[in-house]
Amino acid sequence: MNNHRNSNSRRDFLKTVGAVAAASSLSAGAADAPKDGAQTKPEVAPVKPKPPKPGDGLSIGLVGCGGQGTGDATNADRLGAKIVAVCDVDESHLAAAKKRWPGTETYSHFLDLVQQKNLDAIIYGTPDHWHTFVSIAAMRAGKDVYCEKPLTLTIDEGKHLVKVQRETNRVLQTGTQQRSTTGFRMAAELVRNNVLGKLKEVSVWVPAGLREGPFKVSEVPKEFDYDTWLGQTPAVPYIKERTHLKFRYWWNYSAGTITDWGAHHNDIVLWAPGKDRSGPISAEGKVLVEPIPGGFTVPSEYEIEWTYDTGLKHTCKTTTASSWSGQTVDPKGQLHGIKFVGENGWIWVTRGTLTASDRELLKTKLPDDKRLYFSNDHMGNFLECVKSRKAPICEAEIGHRSATLCHLGAISVRLGRKINWDPEKEEMVGDKEATGWMSREMRKPWDYTAVM
Ligand SMILES: NC(=O)c1ccc[n+]([C@@H]2O[C@H](COP(=O)([O-])OP(=O)(O)OC[C@H]3O[C@@H](n4cnc5c(N)ncnc54)[C@H](O)[C@@H]3O)[C@@H](O)[C@H]2O)c1
Repeated sequence: MNNHRNSNSRRDFLKTVGAVAAASSLSAGAADAPKDGAQTKPEVAPVKPKPPKPGDGLSIGLVGCGGQGTGDATNADRLGAKIVAVCDVDESHLAAAKKRWPGTETYSHFLDLVQQKNLDAIIYGTPDHWHTFVSIAAMRAGKDVYCEKPLTLTIDEGKHLVKVQRETNRVLQTGTQQRSTTGFRMAAELVRNNVLGKLKEVSVWVPAGLREGPFKVSEVPKEFDYDTWLGQTPAVPYIKERTHLKFRYWWNYSAGTITDWGAHHNDIVLWAPGKDRSGPISAEGKVLVEPIPGGFTVPSEYEIEWTYDTGLKHTCKTTTASSWSGQTVDPKGQLHGIKFVGENGWIWVTRGTLTASDRELLKTKLPDDKRLYFSNDHMGNFLECVKSRKAPICEAEIGHRSATLCHLGAISVRLGRKINWDPEKEEMVGDKEATGWMSREMRKPWDYTAVM
């Protein structure tokens, strides 16, 4: 879903192209100028130095060279970083990455890549069931890490990951890039500063997932290390639709659009009222459309309601008016996005749109000390922080809390009932069955000891 990338990237790229073009035309002008005689001292027009980029001088390794990983690495490359190592369990994806970045070292195992000496940071775009292992291995090897969302597969993984980040003091950015765009930041700042008055409810709509199947078992392609792809998850026969891109619609590897789009929009909901180092006190989920037997296992349509200690209700419902990748299917239907409703009106925000019940609300001037963390380029913010050693806009604790919110929703959808949560202790309240879902059995040889 590389079409989700923020437009700042494109603008910065165009600016850079413009700057380079301007610099080249100055040089060309200087070469053509002194044609009027030997006595004329040739004038050399000064060549404008290129503006420094946040990634200048940084060397990056990419783990998981599929759609998003390649997109993230391309972003880092655009910002001046050098991609010097790539890793994938599918040789065809590895070959494509090698072609994209000639001269890089190639690896079929991330545990080898993270040991490469000249790496400053790792970017990864593996499926969700690998996120925690890659993050922890990278941080233990002394590397900073740009992690795709959702930060983890389970709540328990998140607790381990945050602990290691604190112990190693590595820079960790979660790939929830909506935080680094103007519309979402403005919406969050206005809500945080009570421009809507007391916040009464927040409604999130996310695209419905795919409902497909039944699928056929087939031969594993010879270039694909399927067993390593499965990693910690149960050994099951190969089905093409289980793996690349569509892994997100299987409970074993992800949680459908709850943790896909949900990790973006619900992250903003936690940010706005300042609950992004805490969380809700309950979650209640319901399946709206059952999956097809033998097909994807995560229901394509569902609804969830979280409650906070302030009394705030936060719902997340699927919509079919937006496609699974976020494109508009029915312009008259309910598109994906977030609606904040307070005593004084509402604010609606989605990618590229920010509106309100009264446009004057959006013009409210906020004092500088009431503004939120500013970043207008998510990858740029990460690369700057690698150099400055400051915390990025979506550091480990925040990425973990956003993922936890989504995991609580997914657990309540699976159980089909309400679960109660203690955000301070990070424990389920009086619920053994729900507690059991905070972690998952890991298939050997994969458990935390492999990377801790
Ligand atoms: N931030 C965003 O907007 C955004 C958008 C799309 C996807 N994502 C996230 O990015 C991640 C990847 O999604 P995708 O759609 O690019 O998936 P994908 O299937 O296209 O790519 C995943 C890649 O990881 C490789 N891989 C799997 N296990 C590996 C391992 N152990 N070591 C090395 N490589 C391994 C696969 O072979 C594949 O090439 C997901 O977690 C997804 O949620 C984020």
